[in-house]
Formats: sequence, structure tokens, C-alpha cells
Amino acid sequence: SIPNILGICGSLRKDSNSLAILNTLAESLKDKAHFRIQRLDDVPLYNQDLDTPEVLPGVAVLRAAIGAADGIVIVTPEYNYGLPGVVKNALDWASRPYNQSTLTGKPVLSVSSSPAFTGGVRALAQLNETLLAIGVQVLSGPQVVIGTAHEKIRDGRLVDTATLNFLDASFERLFVEIAQIARR
Ligand code: FNR
Repeated sequence: SIPNILGICGSLRKDSNSLAILNTLAESLKDKAHFRIQRLDDVPLYNQDLDTPEVLPGVAVLRAAIGAADGIVIVTPEYNYGLPGVVKNALDWASRPYNQSTLTGKPVLSVSSSPAFTGGVRALAQLNETLLAIGVQVLSGPQVVIGTAHEKIRDGRLVDTATLNFLDASFERLFVEIAQIARR
């Protein structure tokens, strides 16, 4: 059977490059994975008072989607040299309940993109640090940083061959990691 992959989109805007990258992955991996894209529009601001067993639907959906995934890819932009609040906020919700997070132990491929040459690499470093705190299996090896993203995306799809090949190789490593976890 093919793995369930959840693609988390770190940008809320309609014409997001992050979303374009995820839509491209969903298409290119359709024979290798069940690929579902999770947007973060419905995730409220984290409030520990609201973090009860009856969490808001947006949080419940996010946690369930993560729980159902064999592997996760997070595609994030960089805002002001850092991880967008939307992504950090969603990860804070997903990190709970303490010691029962559906994220813990999941293999995660982290990806950043930016129109800038630097590709959002500072946001990616912050993302990986947060994932480390949650006990996620951050995929080791080459990190996917997509610079000058606006030149590599046409009509809502990533079209740059070198980037597509690089992502493909990263997903092969993710699939190996998922298979290893399944054998444990
Ligand atoms: C940005 N952008 C940006 N880019 C970057 O490489 N480093 C940065 O520090 C910032 N800072 C920043 C702050 C804010 C508030 C915004 C709105 C944007 C530009 C950003 O990379 C660009 O808008 C991307 O296209 C956003 O990603 P999506 O929405 O296309 O996925």
C-alpha cells in the first residue's frame, strides 16, 4: 500500500508559492502516495484555555490529519527572517496534548521557498528547531530551500526541472524513512 502524505501549507494567501509547490507535489506523487494538502486558515490563535479535549474544529482537523499521515511535508515562506506566525501557531497546537502529540515521531520533510535568493533558509532553520522540540523525525540530508521561487513557478505549478528533481530525491528519502518506521 502507498503511504499517506500530508502537505502543510505555511501561507494563507490564494496565489501562494508554497501552495503551488504542494499542488505540484500532489500531482507528481499521485502514483506513490495519497497526498492531502492541509491549509491553516481555520486554526485559531493558540490559547491554552481553549486547549481542552473539546478543541475547536480547526484544531481537531489539523491534529487528525497529522495523526493519519505516515509522513509530512511542510512548505513555508519566510517572514522577517523567521518562521511565519501561522506555521508556528499551528505547530504549537499540533504539539499538544503534552506527550500525546500526533506529530511526535512522524517523519517530516521541511521545505522553504522565497522569491529572494536566500530561499527562506532562516525560516527553515527555525522550523526545524521547533520540530526538534516536538520530537519530530526531521528528515536528515539535503535541505530543500527554493530560492527565486517566482521564476520557478508558472500558472500555480513548480516548473523548474532541477528543483523538481531535488524534491523527488528528498521524497525518496522520506519514503525510505516511512518504510523503516513501518518495519519497527
Ligand atoms: C516577506 N517576504 C520575505 N522573504 C524573504 O525571503 N525573507 C523575509 O524575511 C521576508 N519577509 C517577509 C515579511 C512579510 C510580512 C511578507 C508578507 C513577506 C516575502 C515572501 O517570501 C513572499 O511574499 C512569498 O511569496 C511568501 O510566500 P507565499 O505566500 O508565496 O507562499
